[in-house]
Amino acid sequence: MTLTDEITRAGEKAVAIIAEAASLDELKAAEPTIFGKKSALGSFKKSLGGLDPDERRQVGRHLNAVRDEVGEALARRREQLAAVERRRLLEAERLDLTEVPTSPRLGHAHLVSQAQERLEDVFVGMGFTVAEGPEAETDWYNFEALNIPRWHPARSMWDTLYLDLGDGDNVVLRTHTSPVQIRVMQNQGPPIYSVMPGRVYRRDTADASHMPVFHQIEGLVVDRGITFGDLAGTLDAFTAAYFGESISSRLRPSYFPFTEPSAEFDITCVICGGEGCQTCQRTGWIELGGCGMVHPNVLRNVDIDPEEYSGFAFGFGIDRLALMRHGVEDLRQMFTNDVRFLSQF
Ligand code: PHE
Repeated sequence: MTLTDEITRAGEKAVAIIAEAASLDELKAAEPTIFGKKSALGSFKKSLGGLDPDERRQVGRHLNAVRDEVGEALARRREQLAAVERRRLLEAERLDLTEVPTSPRLGHAHLVSQAQERLEDVFVGMGFTVAEGPEAETDWYNFEALNIPRWHPARSMWDTLYLDLGDGDNVVLRTHTSPVQIRVMQNQGPPIYSVMPGRVYRRDTADASHMPVFHQIEGLVVDRGITFGDLAGTLDAFTAAYFGESISSRLRPSYFPFTEPSAEFDITCVICGGEGCQTCQRTGWIELGGCGMVHPNVLRNVDIDPEEYSGFAFGFGIDRLALMRHGVEDLRQMFTNDVRFLSQF
Protein backbone atom coordinates (compact mmCIF):
# COMPACT_ATOMS: atom_id res chain seq x y z
CA MET A 1 0.00 0.00 0.00
CA THR A 2 1.35 3.45 -0.90
CA LEU A 3 1.84 6.10 1.74
CA THR A 4 -0.95 8.13 0.14
CA ASP A 5 -3.34 5.21 0.55
CA GLU A 6 -2.22 4.72 4.15
CA ILE A 7 -2.97 8.36 4.86
CA THR A 8 -6.40 8.04 3.26
CA ARG A 9 -7.13 4.93 5.35
CA ALA A 10 -5.97 6.64 8.56
CA GLY A 11 -8.22 9.59 7.71
CA GLU A 12 -11.21 7.31 7.20
CA LYS A 13 -10.51 5.58 10.47
CA ALA A 14 -10.30 8.89 12.32
CA VAL A 15 -13.60 10.03 10.80
CA ALA A 16 -15.17 6.71 11.91
CA ILE A 17 -13.92 7.22 15.49
CA ILE A 18 -15.37 10.73 15.47
CA ALA A 19 -18.73 9.48 14.25
CA GLU A 20 -18.83 6.85 16.95
CA ALA A 21 -18.35 9.28 19.86
CA ALA A 22 -21.76 9.50 21.56
CA SER A 23 -21.07 12.49 23.79
CA LEU A 24 -18.80 15.52 24.08
CA ASP A 25 -16.85 13.71 26.80
CA GLU A 26 -16.28 10.66 24.61
CA LEU A 27 -15.20 12.90 21.75
CA LYS A 28 -12.71 14.68 23.96
CA ALA A 29 -11.32 11.39 25.23
CA ALA A 30 -10.86 10.19 21.63
CA GLU A 31 -9.00 13.27 20.41
CA PRO A 32 -5.40 12.06 21.17
CA THR A 33 -6.00 8.94 19.05
CA ILE A 34 -7.18 11.16 16.16
CA PHE A 35 -4.68 14.02 16.05
CA GLY A 36 -2.11 13.38 18.80
CA LYS A 37 1.60 12.78 18.16
CA LYS A 38 1.09 9.08 18.66
CA SER A 39 -1.98 8.90 16.39
CA ALA A 40 -1.78 7.49 12.87
CA LEU A 41 -2.23 10.93 11.30
CA GLY A 42 0.38 12.36 13.64
CA SER A 43 2.99 9.77 12.71
CA PHE A 44 3.02 10.43 8.94
CA LYS A 45 4.97 13.68 9.27
CA LYS A 46 8.04 11.70 10.22
CA SER A 47 7.68 9.39 7.20
CA LEU A 48 7.66 12.42 4.87
CA GLY A 49 11.29 13.02 5.70
CA GLY A 50 12.37 9.90 3.79
CA LEU A 51 10.74 10.93 0.49
CA ASP A 52 12.23 12.86 -2.41
CA PRO A 53 11.12 16.50 -2.67
CA ASP A 54 8.51 16.00 -5.42
CA GLU A 55 6.85 13.09 -3.74
CA ARG A 56 7.11 14.83 -0.38
CA ARG A 57 5.20 17.82 -1.73
CA GLN A 58 2.47 15.61 -3.18
CA VAL A 59 2.04 13.35 -0.16
CA GLY A 60 2.35 16.36 2.12
CA ARG A 61 -0.49 18.09 0.32
CA HIS A 62 -2.60 14.95 0.61
CA LEU A 63 -1.80 14.64 4.30
CA ASN A 64 -2.85 18.23 4.91
CA ALA A 65 -6.07 17.74 2.97
CA VAL A 66 -6.93 14.64 5.00
CA ARG A 67 -6.07 16.41 8.26
CA ASP A 68 -8.31 19.30 7.26
CA GLU A 69 -11.16 16.92 6.49
CA VAL A 70 -10.76 15.13 9.80
CA GLY A 71 -10.58 18.50 11.57
CA GLU A 72 -13.81 19.56 9.95
CA ALA A 73 -15.51 16.26 10.82
CA LEU A 74 -14.42 16.77 14.42
CA ALA A 75 -15.78 20.31 14.54
CA ARG A 76 -19.06 19.23 12.98
CA ARG A 77 -19.47 16.32 15.40
CA ARG A 78 -18.67 18.57 18.35
CA GLU A 79 -21.35 20.99 17.22
CA GLN A 80 -23.86 18.15 16.82
CA LEU A 81 -23.17 16.64 20.23
CA ALA A 82 -23.34 20.05 21.93
CA ALA A 83 -26.77 20.61 20.37
CA VAL A 84 -27.95 17.22 21.60
CA GLU A 85 -26.71 17.99 25.10
CA ARG A 86 -28.39 21.41 25.10
CA ARG A 87 -31.64 19.83 24.05
CA ARG A 88 -31.38 17.20 26.79
CA LEU A 89 -30.75 19.90 29.41
CA LEU A 90 -33.65 22.01 28.21
CA GLU A 91 -35.91 18.97 28.38
CA ALA A 92 -34.76 18.13 31.91
CA GLU A 93 -35.28 21.65 33.20
CA ARG A 94 -38.49 22.26 31.32
CA LEU A 95 -41.24 24.05 33.23
CA ASP A 96 -44.70 23.31 31.99
CA LEU A 97 -46.47 26.56 32.70
CA THR A 98 -49.81 25.07 31.77
CA GLU A 99 -49.51 22.90 34.89
CA VAL A 100 -49.70 25.86 37.28
CA PRO A 101 -53.18 25.61 38.84
CA THR A 102 -55.42 28.44 37.75
CA SER A 103 -56.54 29.04 41.33
CA PRO A 104 -53.59 28.48 43.74
CA ARG A 105 -54.42 26.84 47.07
CA LEU A 106 -55.03 29.58 49.62
CA GLY A 107 -54.46 29.29 53.33
CA HIS A 108 -57.14 30.24 55.82
CA ALA A 109 -57.50 31.63 59.31
CA HIS A 110 -56.28 29.43 62.18
CA LEU A 111 -58.89 27.48 64.12
CA VAL A 112 -58.51 29.79 67.12
CA SER A 113 -58.73 32.93 64.97
CA GLN A 114 -61.89 31.56 63.39
CA ALA A 115 -63.42 31.00 66.84
CA GLN A 116 -62.37 34.49 67.94
CA GLU A 117 -63.88 36.08 64.83
CA ARG A 118 -67.16 34.22 65.34
CA LEU A 119 -67.33 35.25 68.98
CA GLU A 120 -66.70 38.86 68.02
CA ASP A 121 -69.44 38.61 65.38
CA VAL A 122 -71.96 37.32 67.91
CA PHE A 123 -71.16 40.05 70.43
CA VAL A 124 -71.09 42.78 67.79
CA GLY A 125 -74.53 41.54 66.77
CA MET A 126 -75.60 42.11 70.38
CA GLY A 127 -74.35 45.70 70.31
CA PHE A 128 -70.86 45.29 71.78
CA THR A 129 -67.71 46.93 70.44
CA VAL A 130 -64.34 45.13 70.26
CA ALA A 131 -61.33 46.49 72.18
CA GLU A 132 -57.72 45.32 72.46
CA GLY A 133 -54.81 45.99 74.77
CA PRO A 134 -51.10 45.20 75.26
CA GLU A 135 -49.88 41.71 76.14
CA ALA A 136 -47.10 43.01 78.37
CA GLU A 137 -48.79 44.82 81.23
CA THR A 138 -47.71 46.54 84.38
CA ASP A 139 -48.57 44.89 87.65
CA TRP A 140 -51.07 47.68 88.21
CA TYR A 141 -53.19 46.90 85.16
CA ASN A 142 -52.97 43.13 85.48
CA PHE A 143 -53.57 42.96 89.24
CA GLU A 144 -53.61 46.09 91.36
CA ALA A 145 -56.36 48.00 89.51
CA LEU A 146 -58.42 44.79 89.50
CA ASN A 147 -58.52 44.84 93.27
CA ILE A 148 -55.65 42.38 93.68
CA PRO A 149 -53.00 44.10 95.83
CA ARG A 150 -49.52 42.56 96.11
CA TRP A 151 -50.27 40.86 99.39
CA HIS A 152 -53.56 39.39 98.19
CA PRO A 153 -53.71 35.58 98.38
CA ALA A 154 -55.83 35.56 95.17
CA ARG A 155 -52.64 36.35 93.22
CA SER A 156 -51.92 32.65 93.33
CA MET A 157 -54.98 32.10 91.08
CA TRP A 158 -52.72 33.20 88.21
CA ASP A 159 -49.34 31.56 87.64
CA THR A 160 -47.65 34.68 86.42
CA LEU A 161 -44.75 35.16 84.01
CA TYR A 162 -42.71 38.23 84.89
CA LEU A 163 -40.67 40.24 82.40
CA ASP A 164 -37.20 41.19 83.54
CA LEU A 165 -37.01 44.82 82.43
CA GLY A 166 -34.74 45.85 85.31
CA ASP A 167 -37.79 47.22 87.03
CA GLY A 168 -38.35 44.67 89.77
CA ASP A 169 -41.34 42.45 88.98
CA ASN A 170 -43.40 45.36 87.75
CA VAL A 171 -44.09 44.12 84.22
CA VAL A 172 -45.87 40.84 83.53
CA LEU A 173 -47.17 38.99 80.52
CA ARG A 174 -50.88 39.51 81.12
CA THR A 175 -52.42 36.48 82.81
CA HIS A 176 -55.91 37.37 81.60
CA THR A 177 -57.65 39.90 79.36
CA SER A 178 -59.09 41.72 82.39
CA PRO A 179 -56.47 44.53 82.29
CA VAL A 180 -58.12 45.63 79.02
CA GLN A 181 -61.27 46.29 81.09
CA ILE A 182 -59.29 48.84 83.05
CA ARG A 183 -57.95 50.47 79.90
CA VAL A 184 -61.40 50.71 78.30
CA MET A 185 -62.88 52.24 81.45
CA GLN A 186 -60.00 54.75 81.64
CA ASN A 187 -60.03 55.69 77.96
CA GLN A 188 -63.72 55.72 77.34
CA GLY A 189 -65.80 55.82 80.48
CA PRO A 190 -69.42 54.65 80.71
CA PRO A 191 -71.58 53.63 79.04
CA ILE A 192 -69.41 50.64 78.04
CA TYR A 193 -70.52 47.59 76.11
CA SER A 194 -67.29 45.95 74.92
CA VAL A 195 -65.62 42.60 74.38
CA MET A 196 -61.87 42.23 74.63
CA PRO A 197 -60.29 39.20 72.93
CA GLY A 198 -56.58 38.42 73.07
CA ARG A 199 -53.60 36.29 73.91
CA VAL A 200 -52.79 35.61 77.56
CA TYR A 201 -49.91 33.88 79.34
CA ARG A 202 -49.54 31.62 82.36
CA ARG A 203 -46.67 29.66 83.84
CA ASP A 204 -48.28 26.34 82.92
CA THR A 205 -46.80 23.18 81.50
CA ALA A 206 -48.40 22.27 78.18
CA ASP A 207 -50.73 19.28 78.41
CA ALA A 208 -53.93 18.12 76.72
CA SER A 209 -55.98 20.93 78.25
CA HIS A 210 -53.42 23.62 79.17
CA MET A 211 -51.05 25.82 77.21
CA PRO A 212 -48.73 28.49 78.62
CA VAL A 213 -50.07 30.79 75.90
CA PHE A 214 -53.76 30.79 75.16
CA HIS A 215 -56.64 33.11 74.27
CA GLN A 216 -59.44 34.67 76.22
CA ILE A 217 -62.37 36.90 75.45
CA GLU A 218 -63.61 39.24 78.11
CA GLY A 219 -66.87 41.15 78.21
CA LEU A 220 -67.51 44.36 80.08
CA VAL A 221 -70.68 46.35 80.55
CA VAL A 222 -70.77 49.51 82.67
CA ASP A 223 -73.84 51.70 82.66
CA ARG A 224 -76.53 53.06 84.95
CA GLY A 225 -78.76 50.46 86.55
CA ILE A 226 -76.93 47.34 85.37
CA THR A 227 -77.93 44.30 87.46
CA PHE A 228 -76.96 40.68 87.92
CA GLY A 229 -80.05 39.83 85.86
CA ASP A 230 -78.52 41.67 82.90
CA LEU A 231 -75.39 39.55 83.27
CA ALA A 232 -77.35 36.29 83.36
CA GLY A 233 -79.54 37.36 80.43
CA THR A 234 -76.58 38.50 78.32
CA LEU A 235 -74.73 35.21 78.87
CA ASP A 236 -77.85 33.23 78.02
CA ALA A 237 -78.47 35.24 74.84
CA PHE A 238 -74.83 34.77 73.86
CA THR A 239 -74.96 31.02 74.53
CA ALA A 240 -78.02 30.54 72.33
CA ALA A 241 -76.55 32.72 69.56
CA TYR A 242 -73.17 30.99 69.56
CA PHE A 243 -74.03 27.37 70.34
CA GLY A 244 -77.64 27.17 69.20
CA GLU A 245 -81.04 27.30 70.92
CA SER A 246 -80.67 23.82 72.43
CA ILE A 247 -77.74 24.93 74.62
CA SER A 248 -78.43 27.04 77.70
CA SER A 249 -76.31 28.52 80.50
CA ARG A 250 -76.31 28.50 84.29
CA LEU A 251 -74.37 30.36 86.97
CA ARG A 252 -72.66 28.93 90.06
CA PRO A 253 -71.33 31.02 92.97
CA SER A 254 -67.60 31.59 92.76
CA TYR A 255 -64.90 34.06 93.67
CA PHE A 256 -62.86 36.65 91.78
CA PRO A 257 -61.27 39.67 93.47
CA PHE A 258 -62.53 42.05 90.77
CA THR A 259 -66.18 40.99 90.79
CA GLU A 260 -68.71 40.85 93.62
CA PRO A 261 -70.77 38.76 93.57
CA SER A 262 -68.83 36.39 91.33
CA ALA A 263 -69.96 33.35 89.46
CA GLU A 264 -68.72 30.56 87.26
CA PHE A 265 -70.80 30.09 84.15
CA ASP A 266 -71.57 26.72 82.65
CA ILE A 267 -73.27 25.72 79.42
CA THR A 268 -75.18 22.57 78.51
CA CYS A 269 -72.62 19.92 77.56
CA VAL A 270 -72.31 20.26 73.77
CA ILE A 271 -71.18 16.63 73.43
CA CYS A 272 -74.14 14.88 75.07
CA GLY A 273 -76.69 17.70 75.04
CA GLY A 274 -77.03 17.54 78.85
CA GLU A 275 -77.52 13.77 79.17
CA GLY A 276 -74.25 13.29 81.00
CA CYS A 277 -71.10 11.89 79.39
CA GLN A 278 -67.37 11.53 79.93
CA THR A 279 -66.57 15.07 78.75
CA CYS A 280 -68.91 16.70 81.29
CA GLN A 281 -68.11 14.13 83.99
CA ARG A 282 -71.77 13.01 83.91
CA THR A 283 -73.04 16.40 85.09
CA GLY A 284 -74.55 17.52 81.78
CA TRP A 285 -72.73 20.87 82.13
CA ILE A 286 -69.40 22.25 80.97
CA GLU A 287 -67.66 25.13 82.71
CA LEU A 288 -66.98 27.94 80.26
CA GLY A 289 -65.67 30.87 82.30
CA GLY A 290 -65.96 33.34 85.14
CA CYS A 291 -68.16 36.39 85.59
CA GLY A 292 -69.66 38.75 88.11
CA MET A 293 -70.64 42.31 88.96
CA VAL A 294 -67.68 44.69 88.68
CA HIS A 295 -66.32 45.29 92.19
CA PRO A 296 -66.86 48.87 93.45
CA ASN A 297 -63.12 49.11 94.21
CA VAL A 298 -62.35 48.46 90.54
CA LEU A 299 -64.71 51.23 89.45
CA ARG A 300 -63.15 53.59 91.99
CA ASN A 301 -59.66 52.73 90.67
CA VAL A 302 -60.63 54.21 87.31
CA ASP A 303 -62.62 57.13 88.75
CA ILE A 304 -66.06 55.77 88.01
CA ASP A 305 -68.54 56.41 90.81
CA PRO A 306 -69.99 53.07 91.98
CA GLU A 307 -73.00 54.93 93.39
CA GLU A 308 -73.88 56.13 89.92
CA TYR A 309 -72.73 53.26 87.74
CA SER A 310 -72.67 49.50 88.00
CA GLY A 311 -71.48 46.84 85.62
CA PHE A 312 -70.72 43.23 84.95
CA ALA A 313 -67.82 41.39 83.42
CA PHE A 314 -67.21 37.90 82.12
CA GLY A 315 -64.29 36.06 80.60
CA PHE A 316 -63.59 32.68 79.10
CA GLY A 317 -61.06 30.74 77.06
CA ILE A 318 -61.35 30.78 73.28
CA ASP A 319 -59.02 27.82 72.61
CA ARG A 320 -61.00 25.40 74.73
CA LEU A 321 -64.18 26.54 73.03
CA ALA A 322 -62.71 25.77 69.60
CA LEU A 323 -61.45 22.45 70.94
CA MET A 324 -64.93 21.49 72.15
CA ARG A 325 -66.66 22.69 69.03
CA HIS A 326 -64.51 20.54 66.74
CA GLY A 327 -64.01 17.57 69.01
CA VAL A 328 -60.22 18.04 69.15
CA GLU A 329 -58.82 15.89 71.93
CA ASP A 330 -55.52 17.59 72.67
CA LEU A 331 -55.11 21.36 72.95
CA ARG A 332 -51.46 21.05 71.92
CA GLN A 333 -52.47 19.95 68.41
CA MET A 334 -53.78 23.44 67.79
CA PHE A 335 -50.33 24.94 68.19
CA THR A 336 -47.88 22.51 66.59
CA ASN A 337 -48.62 24.10 63.21
CA ASP A 338 -49.06 20.83 61.39
CA VAL A 339 -50.75 21.78 58.13
CA ARG A 340 -52.35 18.33 57.89
CA PHE A 341 -54.20 19.08 61.14
CA LEU A 342 -54.92 22.76 60.51
CA SER A 343 -56.20 22.33 56.97
CA GLN A 344 -59.12 20.25 58.26
CA PHE A 345 -60.82 23.28 59.77
N1 PHE B 1 -60.10 37.12 84.36
C1 PHE B 1 -60.65 35.91 84.90
C2 PHE B 1 -59.68 34.78 84.65
O1 PHE B 1 -58.92 34.81 83.72
C3 PHE B 1 -61.99 35.58 84.30
C4 PHE B 1 -63.05 36.57 84.65
C5 PHE B 1 -63.27 37.66 83.82
C6 PHE B 1 -63.78 36.45 85.78
C7 PHE B 1 -64.21 38.61 84.14
C8 PHE B 1 -64.75 37.36 86.10
C9 PHE B 1 -64.96 38.44 85.28
O2 PHE B 1 -59.64 33.83 85.40
